[in-house]
Amino acid sequence: MEALHDAIRRCTKCPLHLHRRNAVPGEGRARLGVMVVGEAPGAAEDAEGRPFVGAAGSLLTKTLAKLGVSRDDLYITNVVKCRPPNNRTPTREEVEACLPYLLKQIELVKPRRVLALGLVSAKALLGLIGREVEKVGEVRGRCFPGRISGVELEVCVTYHPAAVLRNPNLRGRFEGDLALFLGGGLERYL
Ligand code: URA
Ligand code: SF4
Repeated sequence: MEALHDAIRRCTKCPLHLHRRNAVPGEGRARLGVMVVGEAPGAAEDAEGRPFVGAAGSLLTKTLAKLGVSRDDLYITNVVKCRPPNNRTPTREEVEACLPYLLKQIELVKPRRVLALGLVSAKALLGLIGREVEKVGEVRGRCFPGRISGVELEVCVTYHPAAVLRNPNLRGRFEGDLALFLGGGLERYL
């Protein structure tokens, strides 16, 4: 995994490398068999080279803590590893260019569940198991079984924490989804 992280830090496969301060490969150990996948680094993540360390990350970390889960016990990454200018949504080409890294991360981590946060992540991950999605609302709160990189897993979808920060009405569903996805028999992977 360290070699893969280094390759990501040096990557120039798409134009996003021109804008970054630091690529953000990912971090953590999936002791619970769970991998969390966001959209792309923001300003704080680009500055630190670590995923989910800004405002959205703080909400994610706090929500996990409330459920008794330390973020260190999950492997946390993003679909796209370099920050898009002004935090715009990554293009289809950027997602395609970066996807081999996520596939390799799944191969190495062998998660039982992959938690997709938000539409970009849900589209990419559900696309890998043959399901098309246009809106998070179509799939959130649910897990879909499939095989990615030879790993039998479930893709589970909830809101992006940045969306929850913009719309506090989503908070209850966000917390409920995470509680559901982090429960349900994962203890056995400890
Ligand atoms: N938003 C994301 O999608 N990923 C991060 O790492 C931080 C904010
Ligand atoms: Fe490489 Fe992904 Fe960064 Fe593009 S976003 S330069 S593919 S690591």
